[in-house]
Amino acid sequence: MTRKLSILLNIILIAVVAFGVNKFVIQGSTAPSDDGRTALLVAPSEKDYVLTEMRGFLETVQGITTAIGEDDIAEVRTLAAKAGKFSPANVPASLFAKMPLEFKTLGMETHTLFEELAKIAAESESAQAVSLALGDLMLNCTACHSSYRLDLEPLSN
Ligand code: HEC
Repeated sequence: MTRKLSILLNIILIAVVAFGVNKFVIQGSTAPSDDGRTALLVAPSEKDYVLTEMRGFLETVQGITTAIGEDDIAEVRTLAAKAGKFSPANVPASLFAKMPLEFKTLGMETHTLFEELAKIAAESESAQAVSLALGDLMLNCTACHSSYRLDLEPLSN
């Protein structure tokens, strides 16, 4: 094989890999939507999975808010530690490929922030410190909601 041909093949290979990384890792499966947000195009079961996770988040935030009001910092720690536990292995593989990188990052960071909230609750008995950390954490909820929505992908047959 001539040197030029080998360089050309390498360039093509790099372009194909870069396209794949851009399509499947960075962009995910998305489309613009009428309300200005980016729509993730997912299957019904994947939508159910995400929304079930979301309702879990809301229940956690509800529990933590009540616990703060009752000055029950131990309960804050328990609830936050539970929401902090996350294994990417539990996410359906098909869904993983459809989520844009920024979405995945915001999602995983939210679990990490719950872990940090559990640490803050363990180290400080201050309801105010915990409340502030919860408010900060919820900026991740609002950031993601203002950028993304879920739409069903077109049927493939
Ligand atoms: C990585 C992105 C992301 C993060 C972070 C995130 N959400 Fe969501 N959430 C979504 C998307 C996307 C939807 C669907 C919105 C739509 O289609 O309009 C949603 C929907 C919801 C719903 C509606 C559930 C249903 O059954 O309809 C609730 C409640 C919710 N989120 C709560 C939260 C809370 C609380 C947090 C933070 C602790 C949070 N979310 C963090 C992306 C996110």
